[in-house]
Amino acid sequence: MDKPMTMYILLIISSLVAMVTSQDTLPDRSRIVRYPYTEDLDMEGRYILRWNFNETHAWFEVQVNTTGYVGFGISTEGRMRDSDIFVAYVANDRVYSGDFYTRTGRYPLTDDVDDWIVDYGYEQGGWTVIGFTRLLDTCDTQDKPITEHTTRLIYAYGYSDPSSLQALRRHDERGSKGVNLLTRPTRPMFLPADSQTADFRNENYTIPSTERSTFRCRVFDLTNVLDKYHIIKISPVFTPETEYHVGHMTLFRCHVPAEDLRFYAGQDFNCFTDAPGHVQFCREHVASFGNGKTDFYLPEDIGIPIGGGGNEPNMYVLAMQYTNQDKTPGLVDSSGIRITYTSELRQHEAGFMTVGNIISPNWAQFIPPGETDFLQKAYCSMKCLAWGMEGCVANGTVNPTVASPFMTVAGVQFLSHELGKTMKLRHLAYDEKHVALENPWLAYDNSYDPNEQTFRVLPRRQNITCWDELLLECVYNSQNRMTPTVGGWTALNELCRAHVLYYPRKRIEGCMSWSSYQQLQDRVGNRIEARHVFKTLHDTDWHSPASNSMRNNLKRALRESSEIAQCWSSRRERSYAVDGFPQPTIIGPYTEPVTSTCV
Ligand SMILES: *[C@@H]1O[C@H](CO)[C@@H](O)[C@H](O)[C@H]1NC(C)=O
Ligand SMILES: *[C@@H]1O[C@H](CO)[C@@H](O)[C@H](O)[C@H]1NC(C)=O
Ligand SMILES: *[C@@H]1O[C@H](CO)[C@@H](O)[C@H](O)[C@H]1NC(C)=O
Ligand SMILES: *[C@@H]1O[C@H](CO)[C@@H](O)[C@H](O)[C@H]1NC(C)=O
Ligand SMILES: *[C@@H]1O[C@H](CO)[C@@H](O)[C@H](O)[C@H]1NC(C)=O
Repeated sequence: MDKPMTMYILLIISSLVAMVTSQDTLPDRSRIVRYPYTEDLDMEGRYILRWNFNETHAWFEVQVNTTGYVGFGISTEGRMRDSDIFVAYVANDRVYSGDFYTRTGRYPLTDDVDDWIVDYGYEQGGWTVIGFTRLLDTCDTQDKPITEHTTRLIYAYGYSDPSSLQALRRHDERGSKGVNLLTRPTRPMFLPADSQTADFRNENYTIPSTERSTFRCRVFDLTNVLDKYHIIKISPVFTPETEYHVGHMTLFRCHVPAEDLRFYAGQDFNCFTDAPGHVQFCREHVASFGNGKTDFYLPEDIGIPIGGGGNEPNMYVLAMQYTNQDKTPGLVDSSGIRITYTSELRQHEAGFMTVGNIISPNWAQFIPPGETDFLQKAYCSMKCLAWGMEGCVANGTVNPTVASPFMTVAGVQFLSHELGKTMKLRHLAYDEKHVALENPWLAYDNSYDPNEQTFRVLPRRQNITCWDELLLECVYNSQNRMTPTVGGWTALNELCRAHVLYYPRKRIEGCMSWSSYQQLQDRVGNRIEARHVFKTLHDTDWHSPASNSMRNNLKRALRESSEIAQCWSSRRERSYAVDGFPQPTIIGPYTEPVTSTCV
């Protein structure tokens, strides 16, 4: 038998085996051409979603551990009310399905038009599997469109079938999850054969029972990893018993002299109160996770370098934030971050640049209670970018005729805490007259889910050059807060950050700003001195109607005050640049093209 023939037969056999095994083992989370994306919607692994999409349609498969009915829906708030719901069950070798919706109530009403098309459905080994397709935008007001924003999926199932779709009983299980359906990283078909993993995690760390929130940093020494590898996958690893006490976790890195590092390696510190300077200033972002327990796959042409000796990062710092609301004693945790890496270097060598609002030393971020749409901005200024990209002839003055270095942005992870509502990363470009024009937004989420902190892959990558500036806009809803919220790392503080994945990797790691608040006025219109700004804000009675003028003052100050930029790199000599600049007036702001074909 010649070789191609053998291959052919092997392929057939292996695909038969694949079919048999996939039929035998549900749930099946494997990536297949029809469904490259998969996500568990519940915590117990009893409701699995696989999907894919093109420009007009999305198609889904749900695998649910029940022989009863299953429900799947798109909601506004992750609740039953105001949602678009697909319900199906298998009985007598047939699939019964229906399109429902809710408004203010929870009971599903039958949609006038059935827009969910069933592709197949069967029951097997106690599981129900349904494949179905829908238009991204059905133009039906009883449906919800599927967009690039975070989608609040809801799911439900019953342990038994109803007698008919018109006689649905209340579900036995339900839940919701924020998922970005259209901008998520794909799992590759195969990982390279030499892929290996490295864990950065705690070892039996006892979470203090004296604090509600604890920050723990642990140091890892990679000085002896002299070969260069590429990180291709980053995963969260949890200790099941303490999983829900992990608020968020981040992996940072930097280069320090090997002899200093030997001293810190394996040690634990409180990240803020007793970490030595080397650890505190080690802030090149590598990975971060909130409650979303989703593996992050780098796009297939991109790798983040690890190892390599010389001046490459050798100190890795795992920063864990634990919550222990009830001050439970004896919680032992070994959670952390797992990295998968390969020696098969990918085409592009990427890095993360953190863009956002500086939150120390004076908090520098202040959100009054009772606001529905409070805007906080942060700039990655042109000067910082020019410094960080190196080789920009202009050094902060515009000269677009000169060939310049560039960064290609491939992905964005937004980061805010509980008040985060919408997040947008804008891309400004200056012309020769120093007028700020706007490119398409790098990323925008009008339905941000702070619990998930999902990573968004850009459907259209964008280049940043020396005459560009980034503007991050975070909008908060503080209606349920009684007291002001300031910048900080605990869940009750706020952040306005974006981790920008770009290539080729440059020295810049952080590109941040804070408002000078120099336009802030007191109630009678006098400028407030810089050193009194936060005291004045904290002393304001935000519950009195008289605070309205202060609210307006604060918003105007944030709109008009100059910004102070700070950018850093820890890889080479620990250098950073600081400068103040007026906020630009954007001529020709970008507006989202109307993609809807509905009339
Ligand atoms: C998109 O997918 C739908 C459903 O599978 C299909 O009918 C349609 O032809 C596809 N469109 C394109 C452009 O491939
Ligand atoms: C599926 O359901 C059966 C019956 O309730 C249960 O025994 C089994 O453990 C479930 N499987 C999973 C993965 O939860
Ligand atoms: C952590 O604790 C478990 C259970 O007590 C033990 O088996 C394991 O060896 C410990 N690991 C380390 C690194 O101490
Ligand atoms: C570029 O700008 C920075 C910050 O303003 C300044 O410190 C530096 O001297 C400038 N470099 C050149 C070559 O002009
Ligand atoms: C970015 O710029 C480089 C060099 O000009 C070019 O090769 C590349 O195609 C650009 N990428 C994008 C996404 O525009």
